[in-house]
Amino acid sequence: MKSIRCFVVAIFVCADICCGGQTLRQAAQRSGLLMGTALNVGYLSEPAYTSTLGREFNMVEPEDAIKWLVLRPNQNTFDFSDGDKVVGFAHVHGMKVRGHNLLWQIHNPDWLTNGHFTADQLAQLMQEHITKVVTHYRGRVFAWDVVNEAIDEHGQLRHSIWYDRPGIGMADAGTAYIAQAFRWAHTADPNALLFYNDGSAEAMNPHSDAIYAMVKTFIKQGVPIDGVGLQMHILDLNPDVKSIAKNIARFGKLGVQVQITEMDVAIPVDEHNNPSHLEDLARQGEVYREIAEVCAKNPACTGLQTWGFTDKYSWIGWYTNHTKGDALLFDRRYRPKPSYEALRSVLERSTTAQRTRTVE
Ligand code: XIL
Repeated sequence: MKSIRCFVVAIFVCADICCGGQTLRQAAQRSGLLMGTALNVGYLSEPAYTSTLGREFNMVEPEDAIKWLVLRPNQNTFDFSDGDKVVGFAHVHGMKVRGHNLLWQIHNPDWLTNGHFTADQLAQLMQEHITKVVTHYRGRVFAWDVVNEAIDEHGQLRHSIWYDRPGIGMADAGTAYIAQAFRWAHTADPNALLFYNDGSAEAMNPHSDAIYAMVKTFIKQGVPIDGVGLQMHILDLNPDVKSIAKNIARFGKLGVQVQITEMDVAIPVDEHNNPSHLEDLARQGEVYREIAEVCAKNPACTGLQTWGFTDKYSWIGWYTNHTKGDALLFDRRYRPKPSYEALRSVLERSTTAQRTRTVE
């Protein structure tokens, strides 16, 4: 009787630890693809959060910890404490760190936004920020989202404090201020991979056309850009997968990497935050599978990252006014969902031989 009980306990422990077979992380490691997630330092005290994180992912990205708003409470303070927690966790668990982000037109501190700085002062602030932050994490952050969401869905540069309000003195020169940010980041850490990151540019559309044109120009001009981050916040269950594959392929042909940087697949939820239609969970899994297959099939796509991993903590509720949610791989009790199994099976089938790049 005792041995039967032990056997049963062992099965549950195993099911809990390794979810039936390889973990996502093990499957990712074998496939040569980086499998990442956003990490929110607020939850690092929760054992289920940290154990799932360390077991399932080989890459993390701070969700907010190294954005200007958190890192620069005032002009003279660089508060690296939260960012250092992310990097420390990653180091202990043998994970890579993506840095996010060095420049964004929103989520900036008031002292910056309302500071009435001149173009010269802003140029100095931008150079100082990029240099200090990239230098602080040199050798510990392998890739940076240097500039985030600088282009809108029509393919136009967004007005921003860095571009033209008043900008750093390059408002007449289109994407030149972005190029400048990449150059400063490269000087601070010549070994870091430098990405331009954006949302709603996953498929072929005017937004991704503009990013493509910018990257092509940068390559011609010798601007140190290594990749494009496609956020992949999917708010309906019908992404145009063929078009996404085509878009990733064209960046690959330019010679830059693509990483899926912030994937989540939102589904409608009721007032208790439960799926409005249970069948959506299966369809959600299919969407994860389709996108992961696109990435796994193209050697230019070197990483897939989700924006959080448990439905307990996700920005989607806030973003959709609580009409959508449950967008991730684990439910609120950290039990794997169909979306998890879908990703795992794609990674298990994907082999290193398909990839030309070494990402480790
Ligand atoms: C979001 C975070 O998840 C929130 O915690 C924060 O309040 C706002 O930013 N695109 C990005 C991410 O590049 O940085 C955003 O993250 C989500 C959209």
